[in-house]
Formats: sequence, C-alpha cells, structure tokens
Amino acid sequence: MFKPDVYRKRRDKLVKDIGSGLVLLPGNEDSPMNYRANTYHFRQDSSFLYFFGIDQQGLGGLIDLDNGTHMLFGDDAGIDDIIWMGERPTIQSLGEKAGVDKCYPYNELEKILKKAIASKRVVHYLPPYREERMLRLESWLGIHHAEVAKNSSPRLIKAVVSQRSVKSDDETAEIEKAVNIAYEMHTTAMRMAMPGIYERQIAGRIEGISLAHGNPVSFPVILSIHGQTLHNHYHGNLLKKGYIMVTDAGSETDMRYASDITRSVAVGGKFLPEQKDIYEIVLSALQSSIDEIKPGVPYRDIHLKASEIIARGLKDIGLMKGDPEEAVSNGAHALFFPHGLGHMLGLDAHDMEDLGENNVGYDEEIKRSDQFGLAFLRLGRRLQQGFVITSEPGIYFIPALIDKWHSEAKFKDFINYDKLQSWKNFGGVRIEDDILVTADGCRVLGKPIPKTVAEIEHTMSSPVSS
Ligand code: GLY
Ligand code: MN
Ligand code: MN
Repeated sequence: MFKPDVYRKRRDKLVKDIGSGLVLLPGNEDSPMNYRANTYHFRQDSSFLYFFGIDQQGLGGLIDLDNGTHMLFGDDAGIDDIIWMGERPTIQSLGEKAGVDKCYPYNELEKILKKAIASKRVVHYLPPYREERMLRLESWLGIHHAEVAKNSSPRLIKAVVSQRSVKSDDETAEIEKAVNIAYEMHTTAMRMAMPGIYERQIAGRIEGISLAHGNPVSFPVILSIHGQTLHNHYHGNLLKKGYIMVTDAGSETDMRYASDITRSVAVGGKFLPEQKDIYEIVLSALQSSIDEIKPGVPYRDIHLKASEIIARGLKDIGLMKGDPEEAVSNGAHALFFPHGLGHMLGLDAHDMEDLGENNVGYDEEIKRSDQFGLAFLRLGRRLQQGFVITSEPGIYFIPALIDKWHSEAKFKDFINYDKLQSWKNFGGVRIEDDILVTADGCRVLGKPIPKTVAEIEHTMSSPVSS
C-alpha cells in the first residue's frame, strides 16, 4: 500500500468534487468458479484499491460528504476463517493504513445506507460490473437490479476518472515494474517460438513467469499463430515456419498495477520478406505515434496518423490503392486495422473500462465515432501529462472480413482485392508499448523489449528449451 495520507487525499478530493450525500465504494468478494468453496483468484475492485488501497475480500468504503467522515466496513477474521485461510489483520489496523476515521462491522454498512435512503440523501456509487454487486446494491439501496447501473452517479464517475487518469510518479513506477515483468515474459516467448512447439507451452511458461514474480497476468494471455483473431485465447496450435506468433500479455504488481505489451515474431526467428514488409509498416505506425504523443494532442488524431501510415505502407506493397488520407477518412484501412490505437493503462489493463469507455476516453469536445474501426478506439480525447496509455497498431488479414467486403465490393477503389487473395493466410502483426505522457512528449515505460526486426531476430538466435 501507499502511505495512509495518499488514500486520504484522494478521498478528500472526492469530497471537494462531489459536494453532498454519500460516496459508496464497495470492495469485491470472492467469486465461485464451479462451487462455492472453489473460487476464482480474488481480484479487488480497482476503484476501491485506488481510494482505500486494501487488497482483501469483504470490505466496503463509505465517505460522508456532508461531515467529511471516511468509513471502512468489514469483519475481523473468525476462528473458522483463521483455520482455513489464516490470520488476517484487524479491520481497525486496515482502516489505519487507509487513513479512515471510523471502522465498523460489515453489516453496519447496510444500516447506514438504508437510513440515508430513508432520509432522502443521495448515495453516489459507480456502475457495477459483477452481478453479485448489482444484487447487493439492489438490497442496500432499494433499486431494482436492472436499474442499478443506470442510477450510478455521473458526478462520481467523472471525479474518479479525472483522478485515476493522471498517474503519480509512484503509480508510474508500479506500472513500470509490471512492464519489466512483461519484458521477461515476452523475451522468453520470443526465444521459445520455434517450429515444433505448441502455443500452450509458451503461454504456460510466460504465465508462470508472471506468477513466479508473485502475481497473475493482467488479462488472459493472448498468444497465437493466428494473430488475425485479435483476442485469441486458443493455445493449441503447433508452431510452424512461415507463421507469425502474436503475443499480447502483461503482469500485475503486488499493488495491482498492470502492463499490457504485444510483440509479434516470425516462428523460427527469421522474418520472411513479406512478413518483414508488414512488420515494418506496423513498427513505423507505432514509432510515429510515440513521436506524436504529448500533452494537448487528441489521441484520435494520433490514431488517424498511424492509420494513414498503415494505408500508405499497404499501398506501397500493392494491397491498397488511391489516396491514403482519403482511404483513412473513409475507413477503408480498417479492413487491415480494425481496432483502436490504444487505451489508458493503470490498475486495469483497460483502465477504468468499468466506468464506461466513453466516460474515460472521450469528452464534451471529442466524441466517439461510429465508423467501423475508429469506433473501437477507446481513447480519443486530448492527452494530459501523467496519462499512461498504450499504443498498439496492427495489420491483420482476417479471411472472413476480406471475403465479406470483397463480396460487397466495399471500398474497391482503395483495396486491391485481387492481390489480397494470396495474403489471406498471413495472420497478423501487432506491436504494443506502454507509454507515459510527460510534460513535453512521452516515455516508453520499462526496460526496452526487443522491437525492431534486427532486435527480435537477435533475441531469437538464443532459443530456450520448452
Ligand atoms: N490486451 C488487450 C489490449 O491490448 O487491449
Ligand atoms: Mn494488449
Ligand atoms: Mn492494449
């Protein structure tokens, strides 16, 4: 945990920003996997972590905005808990670490909330993403569970997004630790990417690296020789020469900050000429975004510039045609780059996505587009110093999408469908870095993970055994 004062100040800022009523920030509970006693790995709610810092089940946080009292609710471990799960710190000692004024048994939370509702006080809460949280809010607040998300507090969402978007130096240092674990995961994946090995052997090894550092991966490992499927979690393919393996994986730190890194490598360690062509286009789109990232620039514009580099590069090798700028403004490049350039990163890999993508990535000035491709851009608004974001351009050959657009003759003035036929088995390339927006530019976080063709081929020239 950070010092108590850090959490206190963050909550005091909420008091100032929101004004009156109560702010309710429940923690997460254990969630059963296939029977009650067999639970998923526990993951604390990220906003609870941000404002109270305690990584433990069965807690709730409440701030009374009208008298400025900060409260923590939870029960000390009983003898059964101690027998099965071990000793736990007392709620009082946890409350001190979080800098609260008062600690109460958990069931007091419901009583205080019901009293507040009866006296028509406003209870501000964030939109729930777990069904059990919806049911709990239904019973605490007397709102039908189907209405719970709709009644969440726009003011609280706004205040939380504005605080969590700008990372302190201590938070950035945590993210950087997570990137350095990802360095080990990705260089190991590269060096294992040899013909005759199954994807699952590599996926298992890199997940193990994260766990061996003490924490789980920050999202399920994406690792596939069919990288054209953007979030491919199937790891049953045998690696063969001629394929590109896309690995998109990161780790969490003890404090639950995340990394989210992608590398794409040629199986066997030597890029074929056409693989190199595509790789270099994606790399130059990434590099151009790194050159552009600085406070004040809308990330949407950087996404569009990266898209133009992709369209221009694909034109140079004959897969696209026409004016690249026009192709991008029409959305034709999205056949190859159907997702957004990046998103915020922090306590979540997709930071604060539970608070609503548009609340996090867009604002009054920059609204989300509904154009295919651009619509998947999670972060469009102007960058600020202290944002930590990903840049993750890619080029993919998705046979079903190519066939669909071809059959509709969609953007036939921008896409060379004849030439594309022989590329349908190419797969995909994505390269993703984690980046801090600084006062006058940006800094790619962590120990540099091999990224150029030469760096990757060099790393892969010393394979590790499976
Ligand atoms: N790992 C998912 C993403 O890069 O957004
Ligand atoms: Mn990723
Ligand atoms: Mn990402």
